[in-house]
Order: sequence, then C-alpha cells, then structure tokens
Amino acid sequence: MMRVSLLLSCLLASTCLFTSSSAQSAGFVSLDCGGTEPFTDELGLNWTPDDHLLYGSTANISSLNETKTQYTTLRHFPADSRKYCYTLNVTSRNRYLVRATFLYGNFDSNNVYPKFDISLGATHWTTIVISEAATVETAELVFLASSPSVSVCLSNATTGQPFISTLELRQLNGSMYLTEFEDKFHLSVSARINFGAETEDPVRYPDDPYDRIWESDLLKKANYLVDVAAGTMRVSTTSPIDNGAVMDKPPQKVMQTAVVGTNGSLTYRMNLEGFPGNGRAFTYFAEIEDLAEDESRKFRLILPDHPEYSKSIVDVKENTQRAYKVYEPGYVNITLPYVLNFRFAKTADSSRGPILNAMEISKYLEKSGGSVDASVMADLASLYSSTVWGQEGGDPCLPSPWSWVTCSSDPQPRVVAVKLSDMNLTGEIPSELTQLTGLVELLLDGNSLTGSIPDFSRCLNLKIVHLENNRLTGKIPSSLAKLPNLTELYLQNNLLTGKIPSSLTKNVISNFTGNFNLKESGDKGRKLGVIIGASVGAIVLLIVTIISLMCMCKLKEDNKMRKTSGICLLFVFNDS
Ligand SMILES: *[C@@H]1O[C@H](CO)[C@@H](O)[C@H](O)[C@H]1NC(C)=O
Ligand SMILES: *[C@@H]1O[C@H](CO)[C@@H](O)[C@H](O)[C@H]1NC(C)=O
Ligand SMILES: *[C@@H]1O[C@H](CO)[C@@H](O)[C@H](O)[C@H]1NC(C)=O
Ligand SMILES: *[C@@H]1O[C@H](CO)[C@@H](O)[C@H](O)[C@H]1NC(C)=O
Ligand SMILES: *[C@@H]1O[C@H](CO)[C@@H](O)[C@H](O)[C@H]1NC(C)=O
Ligand SMILES: *[C@@H]1O[C@H](CO)[C@@H](O)[C@H](O)[C@H]1NC(C)=O
Ligand SMILES: *[C@@H]1O[C@H](CO)[C@@H](O)[C@H](O)[C@H]1NC(C)=O
Ligand SMILES: *[C@@H]1O[C@H](CO)[C@@H](O)[C@H](O)[C@H]1NC(C)=O
Ligand SMILES: *[C@@H]1O[C@H](CO)[C@@H](O)[C@H](O)[C@H]1NC(C)=O
Ligand SMILES: *[C@@H]1O[C@H](CO)[C@@H](O)[C@H](O)[C@H]1NC(C)=O
Repeated sequence: MMRVSLLLSCLLASTCLFTSSSAQSAGFVSLDCGGTEPFTDELGLNWTPDDHLLYGSTANISSLNETKTQYTTLRHFPADSRKYCYTLNVTSRNRYLVRATFLYGNFDSNNVYPKFDISLGATHWTTIVISEAATVETAELVFLASSPSVSVCLSNATTGQPFISTLELRQLNGSMYLTEFEDKFHLSVSARINFGAETEDPVRYPDDPYDRIWESDLLKKANYLVDVAAGTMRVSTTSPIDNGAVMDKPPQKVMQTAVVGTNGSLTYRMNLEGFPGNGRAFTYFAEIEDLAEDESRKFRLILPDHPEYSKSIVDVKENTQRAYKVYEPGYVNITLPYVLNFRFAKTADSSRGPILNAMEISKYLEKSGGSVDASVMADLASLYSSTVWGQEGGDPCLPSPWSWVTCSSDPQPRVVAVKLSDMNLTGEIPSELTQLTGLVELLLDGNSLTGSIPDFSRCLNLKIVHLENNRLTGKIPSSLAKLPNLTELYLQNNLLTGKIPSSLTKNVISNFTGNFNLKESGDKGRKLGVIIGASVGAIVLLIVTIISLMCMCKLKEDNKMRKTSGICLLFVFNDS
C-alpha cells in the first residue's frame, strides 16, 4: 500500500514537473540570486538558485512587505576593484532580453544605498543607483547574441556592496527588435508602457509570451507620465487583437486597453532613464472603440522640442484596414532628451481624438569592442575551468581585468601581464600564452609545469619571465634569447638541459641555478675555448716534439746522461 501511494505520488510529481517546465517558454533562464531551492512562481516561471556561483555571499533582505520569493534573497560581492560575473548560455544570432533586478532591503544592516556598475560582456550597461530600500530597481537590455555565452558582471562599487536579486534571460522570436544597428549597438530599455491599464500591476508572462514587463500607466512614481491632458479617458475591450502583422508582437492584454484624448489631445511628460541620446521609439495602436462608418480617428505626434518629428499623420483604421488589429509606427533612430514631452493631437478633419495603447523607448548602447586577446584568454581560462580564477567570466580586461591579469589602458585593451605564480598549475605551459602578442610580464613560477618552454617569439614585448620552481625540461629555446626587450629571466630549479644561450647571461637579470644538467658556458665562450684549446694544444705538441727530438738526439749522442732525459720526460709530462 505504501509503495503504491509512493509510486503514485512520484508519477504525479513527475507529471507536475513536466507540465510546469513545458508551460514555460524555451529559452527562459530565471536565476534567483542567493536562493537555495528551485521553485515555480505564481506566473509559472521556474526560478533556479545561483548556487553554482563561486563568488560572493548570499543574504536575506530585512523584513519588508516583499512577498515574492525571488526578491527576498540576494547575492552580494566585495566592494573591490574586481568584477563578478554570471555567464549565461545563449544561441548565437538570436535576440534576447536580459533583465537584472535589485532589491536592497537593507540586507547588510547598513542602511547605505549601494551604487555600482553592471556590464554585459565588455560593454558598460548602466550604473545601478539604489535610492529606496523597498523599491525593486530593474535594468533591461535587448541584445543580439554573437557567441554561445554572455556574461553579466557587477563591478566598480562607489557606495556599498554590489548585489543582485534576480537575473532573467528571455529569448525573443524572429525579427523582434531587429535593428540595422544591432551589430554595433544594444538596446537599453528605457520605457515600456501599457496605456489604459486596469491596475497598477505590470503585464508580463504568461500574458506576454516573451515576458517583457509592460508597466502600468497608473503606476505612481516621480516624473512618470505627468501633465496628463484633461479629457483623457481609459478604454478597453475583451475582443482579441491581431498582432500578427507587426514586428514586435505586443501582447493582447496590453493592446486591449488604451487611453483616448476625448478633447482632442493626449499629453504626457516623463523622464527617460539613460537619455539624452539616440534611441528606438515605437508606439502601438489598435482601434478598440467601435466607430461609426462616418467617423474617423486621425492624429499626429508632436514633440515640442523636435518639430521635425511631427509630420506624419496616424490613421489607425486606414493603416490596419480594420479595427482590433495592431499598427506599430515608430522611429528606428530618434534623438530624445532626458525629459520627454509628447503630445498626440487630432487633425482638424478627425471626428475622434487620438488613441494610444502602448509605447516602447530604448536607447542605443554602443557595444564595446572588447579586449584584443578576449578569445585567446577565454581558451586559456577554459583549461582551468575547475578553478575559481578560471571562472571569473566576462571580458579578461573590461570593465576591470581578471584578478590574475593586467591589461593596457587602450580602448581595446591588450593583456600585458599574466600572473599565475603558485597556482598549482600542472601539465605543459599552455600554448595560448604564446599568442598574447602584447604580453610584457609572465609569471608562472612555483607551479608543477612540465614539458619544454614553448616558442614565445611572437611576444616581442616580453620583459619579465618567471618560470622558476617548476619541472620544465628540454633546452632553453633560442627564441627566448632573441626577445629584444627581455630584462629578467628566472629559470632556476627546473629540469632544463643543454647550454644557456650566452645573450641571456649578458643583458638579462637571470638565474639558472638548480638545473643540474644545464651547462653554464655560452655559445660564443665555448667556441673561443675550442679555438684557444686547439692552439694551446698545437703549441704544446710542437714544443713536446721539439724537446723530445732534442732529448733523443742527446740520448743518442751521450748514453751516459740519463738524468737529463729524466728531466726531459718530466717537463713533457707537466705541460700536457
Ligand atoms: C535566509 O533565511 C533562511 C530562512 O529564514 C535561512 O535558512 C538562511 O540561513 C538565511 N540566509 C542567510 C544568508 O542569512
Ligand atoms: C508594509 O506595509 C504596511 C501596511 O501596508 C505599511 O504601513 C509599511 O510602511 C510597509 N513597510 C514597508 C517597509 O514598505
Ligand atoms: C552551458 O553550456 C555548456 C557547454 O555547452 C554546458 O556545459 C553547461 O552545462 C551549460 N550551462 C547551463 C546552465 O545550461
Ligand atoms: C566607477 O564609477 C565612478 C563613479 O560612478 C566613475 O566615475 C568611474 O568612471 C567608474 N569606473 C569605471 C572603470 O567604470
Ligand atoms: C516564434 O515564431 C514562430 C514562427 O514565426 C512561431 O511559430 C512560434 O510560435 C513563435 N514562438 C513564440 C514563443 O511566440
Ligand atoms: C476641451 O477643449 C476646449 C477647447 O480647446 C476647452 O474649451 C475645454 O475646456 C476642454 N475641455 C476639457 C474637459 O478640458
Ligand atoms: C542615429 O542617427 C545619428 C544622427 O543622425 C547617427 O549619428 C547615428 O549613428 C545613428 N545610429 C545610432 C545607433 O545612433
Ligand atoms: C594548491 O594546492 C594546495 C594543496 O592541495 C592548496 O592548499 C592550495 O590552496 C592550492 N593553491 C591554489 C592557489 O589553488
Ligand atoms: C621594447 O621596449 C621599448 C621601450 O620600453 C618599447 O618602446 C618597445 O615597443 C618594446 N617592444 C619592442 C618590440 O621593441
Ligand atoms: C638563484 O636562485 C637560487 C635558488 O632559488 C637562489 O638561492 C639564488 O640566490 C639565486 N641567485 C640570484 C642571483 O638571484
């Protein structure tokens, strides 16, 4: 009986698991930072803890009124010069929405609101400024994946400790948010507004299958949708809205509500985070009121500060052929100020005032080219993926370098130093290191490296090389001796053999001791020795021949003088 019920509950549990995971769209990653258990929230999103991360500490927020599990925990990092990264798997050439949220909640009992930077790979994304303990700050970016993984990194804390509450990745579909600038620019989402919303709650998954967050226009926050025109009315419908023809697929629930300027205009003022700058701004319109045959709704956008953007007339019904269908006009590249005033005004011949269902404004964020050695360094780090330092992630140099790396300060930095002394490295010296053509300093001493020293002839700037206290074998390569800038070479206590190239003993501070099969004499010295040795030998031979000839003569001449021949022989013996 026990067994049967156990089996049944197992079956039920696995069915539950199956349905919940299939309910959520593929391409969703929802990390509950600092969490301990996976869970599914009331929307059906599956959250997983970030407990695979080797960095940072977890904390609970102090008791606020927050009920959403994912916001009650967080992960925080030391306020140092390092960066701390999350690496997410993506599919190259697909567009994604990445969202990071931050609820301070006085987790450190310090009541100091942190300020720190967040970056996507090498690109500085934004500065997170906490100004209230109980408010969830959100950063959102739309990007085109250009490699199989992407890193989100926290760094540069100017106040408090960097921390993160959630990290979400949502795969977009088809041509959503495609722009002609996407190879060079990300889209940093500044506003995504659902007009005519029924509550203050945002619309998101599952109403939006891509889990974009459509903020309610009823939300009360500073400088958000103020200066609303008199006569602004909220309208809604329950009829389905067709979004099939438009690029960005605004969800039904958002399009089913709108505001209407019954007195001829809709006006709003709002602050645009991230602006001034160039951005992408689109509006979503659908006729959701039943207009009589002879009625019309025609209006134009007016930006008081930008008369050049106020030309085209919107006629929703004419553009969509019918009601309950989305029309998405917008600007692919528009220069906008931080304080945005906008107005939709009906044309003189229109019988109805303007309508507005939704709006999205994103800023173009220029991608950083990243460091020159990024891919070589990624290959190098992947050889040590089980170590803490091998998992630092992100760009090796930007926005701050890995803990064991120093970079040049160029806009596209180069790795100038690799410092892996006493890191328990085994195996051969990785060939990746020989591809770092900007390398000046290489510290690999105090490991258990084996094999021979590779060819560093491409690293023409190498100045300081420490390979001492390893188990390196083979000869000292002549390429090392030819490095023009080499000033310091430490090779002591290895198993190197052969001869020390003479140039390494002259202008270079070096140490070769403790390599018992390494010959001290340099190339030139040896040659000279051979020459000197040979000539000395020849002279000695000549003298010996002459003397012995003389002696033999004397012996023949005078057999009685034995003592002289004895002296003769002694002399020959001494000289050889
Ligand atoms: C957070 O709270 C949970 C449950 O109350 C507790 O088990 C956990 O140890 C807390 N974590 C930290 C870092 O304080
Ligand atoms: C929690 O909710 C209560 C009642 O709604 C409110 O008075 C209090 O200010 C809230 N606390 C915080 C920290 O938001
Ligand atoms: C990401 O991809 C790598 C390589 O394919 C894989 O080993 C790893 O498990 C993946 N990580 C996640 C979280 O899916
Ligand atoms: C770190 O933050 C400060 C203040 O926000 C800023 O001035 C500085 O440029 C930042 N440094 C980096 C490397 O981003
Ligand atoms: C993505 O687009 C394809 C084809 O356009 C469609 O069949 C699919 O349902 C879309 N996926 C989602 C999650 O909307
Ligand atoms: C509507 O506009 C007219 C003319 O501009 C104005 O006189 C009237 O007061 C406005 N009504 C409201 C409710 O604002
Ligand atoms: C947008 O337009 C401006 C000026 O017209 C231009 O300099 C810029 O390169 C364009 N693209 C982006 C992404 O800003
Ligand atoms: C090297 O290995 C030793 C012994 O296993 C360990 O104590 C030490 O922490 C390791 N050092 C590094 C840098 O990993
Ligand atoms: C060598 O060092 C000098 C002076 O520090 C520097 O100018 C030069 O670029 C370095 N590299 C080579 C290949 O000479
Ligand atoms: C060379 O290395 C050996 C062994 O580590 C050390 O005892 C010696 O002092 C070093 N010599 C110089 C000149 O640095």
